[in-house]
Amino acid sequence: MMAKTPSDIGLVGLAVMGQNLALNIADHGFRISVYNRTVEKTDRFIAENPQTPGGLVGTKSLADFVASLAKPRKMIILVPAGKATDAVIDGLVPLLDPNDIIIDGGNALWTDTIRREKELRGKGLRFIGSGVSGGEEGARFGPSLMPGGEFGAWQELKPIWEAIAAKVDDKTGRPIPGAKPGWPVSGGVPCTAYIGENGAGHYVKMIHNGIEYGDMQMICEAYALMSGLLGLKAAEMGGIFSEWNQGSLDSFLIEITADILKQRDPNNKRKAFVDVVLDTAGQKGTGKWTSTNALDMGVPAPTIAEAVFARCISALKDERVAAAKILKGPGKKYRGSKQALVQAIHDALYCSKICSYAQGFQLMRTAQQEYGWKLNFGEIAQIFRGGCIIRAAFLQKITEAYARNPQLANLLLDPFFNRIVKQAQENWRKVVSLAAECGVPAPTFSSALSYYDSYRSARLPANLLQAQRDYFGAHTYERTDQPRGKFFHLDWPEPTRPQLEA
Ligand code: 6PG
Repeated sequence: MMAKTPSDIGLVGLAVMGQNLALNIADHGFRISVYNRTVEKTDRFIAENPQTPGGLVGTKSLADFVASLAKPRKMIILVPAGKATDAVIDGLVPLLDPNDIIIDGGNALWTDTIRREKELRGKGLRFIGSGVSGGEEGARFGPSLMPGGEFGAWQELKPIWEAIAAKVDDKTGRPIPGAKPGWPVSGGVPCTAYIGENGAGHYVKMIHNGIEYGDMQMICEAYALMSGLLGLKAAEMGGIFSEWNQGSLDSFLIEITADILKQRDPNNKRKAFVDVVLDTAGQKGTGKWTSTNALDMGVPAPTIAEAVFARCISALKDERVAAAKILKGPGKKYRGSKQALVQAIHDALYCSKICSYAQGFQLMRTAQQEYGWKLNFGEIAQIFRGGCIIRAAFLQKITEAYARNPQLANLLLDPFFNRIVKQAQENWRKVVSLAAECGVPAPTFSSALSYYDSYRSARLPANLLQAQRDYFGAHTYERTDQPRGKFFHLDWPEPTRPQLEA
């Protein structure tokens, strides 16, 4: 039945994320209309949630959905990114009036968002591409939200986005605790802010996910090293991660890792759950997009890319099992102190994490030039402090770094992070060399270390590389004793070729 009072906002797509976001919005006193292609799903959702402060309005067709909204209309789309988003937009457009606002909350490719914004602007409509991070729990009780698009449209969406976003204490960056876990939250700074025009919000969400890939893989390497070098069992490692979560590594991903490692297998309580999970990781593409974009823009983001490749190699399960029978490792064992190695792994994780975030922020810095955005890195770090998957105490330090210097060229150059790496690098190097000596793969730890060593090198061996290019392809070179931008070519001797017998 049609609602008499028009709804403040609407939402299309009632999968778990959509349902949770709709409930979050309604719990904050906004009336929300919902629509799903399968009507039964809408009916069930409405029936299961009779009491919401703002009110949920179920609609059975897109036309009813659109008609139920207050003008100018605001409609969130939460469907799988890609074709499904375009299909919903195509369905909505003929039903809309000028100035109506479509908000895509999916993990859209930012270039798709740029395209959609342009197309819809051409039709007099407004489009916001908003990153929504925090998984199901975040959508329900406070996500981190990264909106990009027309600024006026953002101002109209702002009261709702600020109300439903996660909140943190601005001084400490800690989440504001609710009356019961996660809910309701009052006070604090909302983890949302206008990111920039067209695809900026989705771009920043993609970088968030690239960083998320890096964080997850680094944690896995810490786990693999503790297990491979020290023979620790899952539950014990769970305890170590819990301890780490009390210190500088305090974060959502460390916290859930501790929980996961302590979990028993429901089918066989004597086993750790993690030991019965098949070692092949899936991916939906946002880490790959981040890495592809890094290559396209020529920005070094090797640690994030390694995290993507680590998932790719994990997926080659059968090949790895076959190769394991043929390819032999070093067979060397670690015989030193357990406590010292655990601390060293902690430090390696911390330093690698700093490099990975440095790479993510460098990508954003280059992308803003490429796409004409004006990104506020301090504010982006603030938004990441709560609600999202990469939320961590660490983000407060990044926020402070950009407050000290909004033009910071690389996080590693900030005095705080510089000091951390200085103190911890000995342990970091020890872990990377031990991993190599004992044959435990640690792709992100070692790639981050190479990144650090490359970035701090005033001179790299690219002099030789450029000479090679000049040798075989006359690609020219610049000289150390001449101004930059002046190119030379050496008249190389003919390469020595084997003489043919007469
Ligand atoms: C988030 C997550 C979320 C999702 C990833 C997972 O911020 O809430 O990033 O968007 O968990 O898309 O990506 P993969 O399936 O590629 O691991």
